[in-house]
Amino acid sequence: MAQLLLRGIKKRFKTTEVLHGIDLEIGDREFVVFVGPSGCGKSTLLRLIAGLDPISDGQFFLNGKLMNDVAPSRRGIAMVFQSYALYPHMDVYENMAFGARLMGLDKAEVERRIAEAVRMLRLGELLKRRPRELSGGQRQRVAIGRALVRKPDVFLLDEPLSNLDAALRSDVRLEIARLHREIGGTMIYVTHDQVEAMTLADKIVVMNEGRIEQVGSPRALYETPANTFVGTFIGSPRMSLVTVTREGTRLGIADGGSLPIDTKLDARALKLGMRPDAVSLHRGQGGEGFHAQVVYTEYLGDNAYVYVRLADGTLLSARTAPNDDFAPDERVSVTLAPGTAHFFSAEDGRRLVP
Ligand SMILES: Nc1ncnc2c1ncn2[C@@H]1O[C@H](COP(=O)(O)OP(=O)(O)O)[C@@H](O)[C@H]1O
Ligand SMILES: [Mg+2]
Repeated sequence: MAQLLLRGIKKRFKTTEVLHGIDLEIGDREFVVFVGPSGCGKSTLLRLIAGLDPISDGQFFLNGKLMNDVAPSRRGIAMVFQSYALYPHMDVYENMAFGARLMGLDKAEVERRIAEAVRMLRLGELLKRRPRELSGGQRQRVAIGRALVRKPDVFLLDEPLSNLDAALRSDVRLEIARLHREIGGTMIYVTHDQVEAMTLADKIVVMNEGRIEQVGSPRALYETPANTFVGTFIGSPRMSLVTVTREGTRLGIADGGSLPIDTKLDARALKLGMRPDAVSLHRGQGGEGFHAQVVYTEYLGDNAYVYVRLADGTLLSARTAPNDDFAPDERVSVTLAPGTAHFFSAEDGRRLVP
C-alpha cells in the first residue's frame, strides 16, 4: 500500500528556490512519470520524496503519515539512480545482498528475495561478475534488482535509461513496464523524454521551472494540453503554434491566407495549435488555407514530415504520405482537419475551451 500526498512542497538551495509549491496526489500502484526539460526540478523532487534532501516548505504524506522528518531508510522507498551507483568491488550478488542485509533480514530471506529479483530481471548468468564486467543495460538491471530486494512500497527511478543506446532503451522500457505489472507497487519515474513518459505512465506530471504545468493521462495531455508548454512538449514532431486573428468565422495570418473555423471563442487574437497529423498540404496557393513555402522534408519510410514556413515566419510541420515529394521552396496551402484545432490565449498561453 502506498499513497503519496505532496502539499505545497518548496525547495530552496541557500537562497535560490527551485521548487515553488508542488501539490500532487499519487495513488496506490500507480505508475507516475515526472517529465520536463533538464533543470526543471524533477530529480530534486524525487530526492525530497526519498528523504535524501530536506523539504524547505510544505508537507509530504505517505499513507497519511507525515514524512518530512522521517529518515530515508524508514520510508519504505527505494531509488534507482541514473548513474547506477553500484559498489565496484562487489559482484552482482553482493551488490543486491548488501542493502537487504542492512535491513536486518536473515540469510534465508535475503537469498529468497535475490532469487526472485534474479528471475524477474534475468540476472542468473551474471551473479559472479563485478560491475565493470557488465554492459550498461546489465548494470541498470542490477541497480533495479538491488532496489527490488528491499521490497519497497514506492520505487523511484531517476532517468534510468538515459545512459543506454536507443535499441536497448526500448528493451529496458518494456522490462520496466512488465516489472511494474508484476510487483504491483507504486512507481515514480523521472525522464526528460516525452516518448518514455507517454509509453510508461498511467499518469504524467509535466514540470517546468520548478512548477507543475499539468497532471493527466498520456491521452489527456495529448488531446487537451492545458497550455502551450504542454502542447508543444508532448507529441513528436511538436505541435506548431501560430498567432492568428479571428475575423467572423475565419482565422487569418497577416498577408498569409485564412482558414474557416467553427469556434465560439470571443478572443480576436489567438494562438492556434496544430499537430502534424492534422495538417494537410496542397500544391499551389489558389484555394483555401494559409500560404506557406516548403523548407525541408524528413523522410521516414512509412511517412514523411514536411516543414513549411508560413507568411509570418512560423515553422510548421505536416505529416504526409512518403511519396508526396514536396520540393524545397515549393509554394503550398495549409489546411487543418475539422475538430483538430487547439486554441490558446495569445496573452498567457492557457488553453481556451470553445
Ligand atoms: N545541490 C544543489 N545545489 C544548488 N542547486 C541545485 C542543487 N541540485 C539541483 N540544483 C538546481 O535545481 C534546479 C533543478 O535541478 P534538478 O532537480 O536536478 O533538475 P532535473 O532533474 O529536472 O534536470 C536546477 O536549476 C539545479 O541547478
Ligand atoms: Mg535530473
